Amino acid sequence: MAASTRPATLSQQIFARFLLGGDDLNHRMYAARKNALFKEVHGRVFEIGPGTGVNLSYYPSGISWTGIEPNPVLHPVLKGKARELNITADLHTALDEAVREDKGRADFVVSTMVLCSVSDLAGTLKSVRDLLKSGGRFLFLEHVIDRANPVRRFVQRAAPYTPWRFFSDGCDPGRDIAGAIAAAGFTQVECQHYLQNGPGLIALVNRPHIYGHAVK
Ligand SMILES: C[S@@+](CC[C@H](N)C(=O)[O-])C[C@H]1O[C@@H](n2cnc3c(N)ncnc32)[C@H](O)[C@@H]1O
Repeated sequence: MAASTRPATLSQQIFARFLLGGDDLNHRMYAARKNALFKEVHGRVFEIGPGTGVNLSYYPSGISWTGIEPNPVLHPVLKGKARELNITADLHTALDEAVREDKGRADFVVSTMVLCSVSDLAGTLKSVRDLLKSGGRFLFLEHVIDRANPVRRFVQRAAPYTPWRFFSDGCDPGRDIAGAIAAAGFTQVECQHYLQNGPGLIALVNRPHIYGHAVK
């Protein structure tokens, strides 16, 4: 596994603690959808922003997994969880490192709750496509902008201008992620919109979700 060299920012340190306390709730909120979404995963799997490794337990045995996680606080956690689950794992801190080494080699690229916080959404989706082999699949489960409720949409668009962004490690809840995936040049996209239940302010602001897959 590649070791991380850059120290964590204060925002990353705070966010890692928040994520570490949230795995149980995450499983309660998303297990059913993830079981359906990840059921065909096999071969070489790349996951962007794996966080604490909350998705690892949904993957079948025998996969080769590479996590792309910029937060160095989470690297030992990911290594430990992969070891526990007997998953062959590798780690990068940036997507372009992975693309340089493994362009066109991924059977699957996975992203859950990550595309809200990447600094360049279109560039990230291009890198996802670059990583995938022809016919490979991008699997996503993301919170998105509210297309129906103008009050929530206003709150989502205002959030990045408040301390929200610092405490959520860059999360911008007002992104049209479905539109960005549709425009990213995949040959086929299946995207379902739904409202995700969950406790607290974060779940309230981030209730509109999408999940699905895109084929290269
Ligand atoms: C809200 S957490 C989601 C973690 C996990 N995927 C989950 O579903 O709980 C967002 C994750 O994306 C990571 N991240 C932020 N920017 C990223 C980027 N440009 N490339 C890859 N990961 C990124 C963060 O460090 C964090 O681990």
